[in-house]
Amino acid sequence: MNLELLKNSLSGIKKHFIDASPVLTIVLGSGWSEVISPLKVLQSIDYSDIPIMGESQVKGHTGKLLLLEHEGKKIVVFQGRHHWYEGCGWDAIAFPVFLTKELSIKSMLLTNAAGSLSKSVKPGDLMIIDDHINAMSNNPLTGKHEPYWGPHFPDQSEVYDLELRNILDSACKDSNATYHHGIYIAKDGPTYETPAEVQNLHSMGGTAVGMSTVPEAILANSIGLTVAGLSCITNLAAGVGDAKLTHEEVLSETTKAMPIITSVLEKTLLAI
Ligand code: HPA
Repeated sequence: MNLELLKNSLSGIKKHFIDASPVLTIVLGSGWSEVISPLKVLQSIDYSDIPIMGESQVKGHTGKLLLLEHEGKKIVVFQGRHHWYEGCGWDAIAFPVFLTKELSIKSMLLTNAAGSLSKSVKPGDLMIIDDHINAMSNNPLTGKHEPYWGPHFPDQSEVYDLELRNILDSACKDSNATYHHGIYIAKDGPTYETPAEVQNLHSMGGTAVGMSTVPEAILANSIGLTVAGLSCITNLAAGVGDAKLTHEEVLSETTKAMPIITSVLEKTLLAI
């Protein structure tokens, strides 16, 4: 990660949020963009106006940094994320985490679309991430250590904060969502997995697989933020189901789940 670029970008953006005192940052994954539509927009900045972010390259990732309000609480929302497979390095992936820290926001909610590694977790279900397995080929903290990234060897015994997981659990229950607690496995992508890889990921202990979230969770945990993760299960991973996988299917399943995930988000915000 490039500390100088990060710090310059942070100082450019921080001034737009002065005095806002947001309580949470949310990063919205594939197809999640519309989940914030009931919330009041106080501030909207296109990623293309934030040099470190650049335009969103993936369909289903809107590419806006928002300041929103719900029942008097303010939140920062990244409407779309960058991924390792985009080949742009870690800076744009790390920016939401370090902006959260710079704005003195304590917590982050990381959302994503994920493929289920077993038939018992179905498309349309939600999964509260209890823990993760980093099966990517890299780690955002690889490289020269800077104290700004937190300790050189961060503890990861509770990356996903128990209190936030309990809040998500109650929000899912109160929204009548079909939901699970599980282990999210991150792969590099952009290919979906082969059936043999899916079998392997399941036997490693994974519940669902995706191409994001874990890098942000590692960074946020390292600098002492409390982290929560919520997956919308969009498909059975390769070999678990018969269907060929497409990004369009992933986006349309998230759209179908929108009323439930909107309710979960609203109830979560009330409890934070
Ligand atoms: N694999 C990897 N990433 C994904 C999947 C999947 O099956 N579904 C949504 N994101």
